Amino acid sequence: MSGAQDYKFEGWAGDSPDSIKGNLKWIEYEPKKFADDDVDIKVHYCGICASDISTLSAGWMPMDEAYPQVVGHEIVGEVVRVGPNVKNGLKVGDIAGVGAQCDSCLECKYCVDHKEQYCNKGQVGTYNGKYYRTSEGSKSWGGYANYWRGPSHFVLPIPKEIDPAEAAPFLCGGVTVFSPLKQYGAGTTAKDVGIIGIGGLGHFALIFAKALGANVTAISHSDHKKDDALKLGASDFLVTGDDVEDAVKGRERSLDLLICTSNDPSMPLNSYLSLLRPGGNFVLVGVPETGKLPDLAPFTIIMNNIHIGGSAIGSPDRIKEMLDLIAEKNLHPWISKWPLSKVNEAVPAMVAGKARYRYVLVNEENGGKL
Ligand SMILES: NC(=O)c1ccc[n+]([C@@H]2O[C@H](COP(=O)([O-])OP(=O)(O)OC[C@H]3O[C@@H](n4cnc5c(N)ncnc54)[C@H](OP(=O)(O)O)[C@@H]3O)[C@@H](O)[C@H]2O)c1
Ligand SMILES: [Zn+2]
Ligand SMILES: [Zn+2]
Repeated sequence: MSGAQDYKFEGWAGDSPDSIKGNLKWIEYEPKKFADDDVDIKVHYCGICASDISTLSAGWMPMDEAYPQVVGHEIVGEVVRVGPNVKNGLKVGDIAGVGAQCDSCLECKYCVDHKEQYCNKGQVGTYNGKYYRTSEGSKSWGGYANYWRGPSHFVLPIPKEIDPAEAAPFLCGGVTVFSPLKQYGAGTTAKDVGIIGIGGLGHFALIFAKALGANVTAISHSDHKKDDALKLGASDFLVTGDDVEDAVKGRERSLDLLICTSNDPSMPLNSYLSLLRPGGNFVLVGVPETGKLPDLAPFTIIMNNIHIGGSAIGSPDRIKEMLDLIAEKNLHPWISKWPLSKVNEAVPAMVAGKARYRYVLVNEENGGKL
């Protein structure tokens, strides 16, 4: 084993739904027991994902038992400890990162087939999860913190060509859209791609869909982000506005693939679906806090041979493929940095929808650069 632990695990924790109003508190906590295939990362950067907000606010599920939570699953930093059974070549001193999943059984059909996020025994989230393969029952703790510990299988080295601060938010937000764009053939079988919701995930999707060679339409509820979307890679911009049926008129059957990053519980689903050509795919990645989607009109999908699917984050293999593409094509996300110490300003700004398009927390004490 290399590296010895002479540090404490501390981070910004939420202990009630009110924490998203700027009430995160700095706490010390006990990480999982260090396993032979674990690494410790000294956190330099951590992106703020909308899932952090829905978790802290108990928007998706009651959290009473699960508080306190240190969230953050777009983590990049320096590897400071490596277990003796780490097999993917990570070394002390490497710059590496972890996304929204930090463990799974590593044995089932889906794990073996590089689809670990769909593991039969369930994925362990990088926060709000419980380890079961090693250190059974230990809680997982995220990256609004000074250190992170977890299984090396889900930790990837960041290529030298990529700015580590920029790499961080790709690890959840980026791969969550890169994965279905690849799966559904963006730029190959799906030439015309629409991206619904131009927030963090949506902006990554515009960048990737363009890089993969698709013609990209950005679909937003207002025209505020039009100039940005065109710069990010869209060649067309659709404002759904107050009269969505009118907005989509004349655009029916114009797209092959729709990636929906919006978490609007009353999204105009049937109007979105009318944009797809027969055989087209609608892939949901946004997660409305109501846990429900609007009613679906059966004839819309039957008479147009439309497929509706969903997609969860991305496997380590997919993350690697994504990082290689980012390095090769010199892709850059639009991020704004916040000192980790100002997390109680950054989180409410994210909640207010001010991010253009991803906030990244910077741990300056650990070597992160603002
Ligand atoms: N499937 C997965 O594995 C996975 C992974 C990561 C995140 N997520 C989920 O994906 C969703 C998007 O995350 P994000 O970080 O990209 O969030 P974000 O930055 O807040 O972006 C969400 C976008 O949705 C659109 N929107 C339209 N109506 C909305 C409404 N009523 N409320 C909120 N947003 C509305 C907005 O875009 P316009 O202004 O363009 O309309 C907004 O920018 C979240 O639900 C998150 O939990 C899922
Ligand atoms: Zn996320
Ligand atoms: Zn598995």
